[in-house]
Amino acid sequence: MKISIINGPNLNLLGTREPGIYGNHSFVEYFESLKKQYHSIEFDYFQSNIEGELIDQLHAVGFSSDGIILNAAAYTHTSVGIGDAIKTIDTGVIEVHISNTFAREDFRHTSYITPNAKGLMVGFGLDVYRLAVESFLAK
Ligand code: DQA
Repeated sequence: MKISIINGPNLNLLGTREPGIYGNHSFVEYFESLKKQYHSIEFDYFQSNIEGELIDQLHAVGFSSDGIILNAAAYTHTSVGIGDAIKTIDTGVIEVHISNTFAREDFRHTSYITPNAKGLMVGFGLDVYRLAVESFLAK
């Protein structure tokens, strides 16, 4: 099984960015531990702060991966283009958010990803990525 993880803007700074909300671990650290838990899964990871690059990556993996885990970060709440890209590809996308976006500012309650995603995991910290992996395995 091949699973692609795509992270959007500012998630390259996890570990130092607002640790009270997003925790103390960098994504690279977390990704290493995730790979160790699932030896049989082939993971790839992509992060960008640029909207078009996230769309390009959805196109690049969206016809070959078995599952995509997407944290579009702030673009979740603004990007019609990323929402449309999910409709364009074959691979199912699970939307994840580290924080509970519904317990935060009103603008974080809107998502252009959710209507096009297979499912949504929010608010369990970095564990949302593992929970998304489990949901692909359970399929
Ligand atoms: C986030 C939530 C978004 O509202 C925010 O813009 C992020 C991170 C999360 O993982 O909790 O950058 O997607």
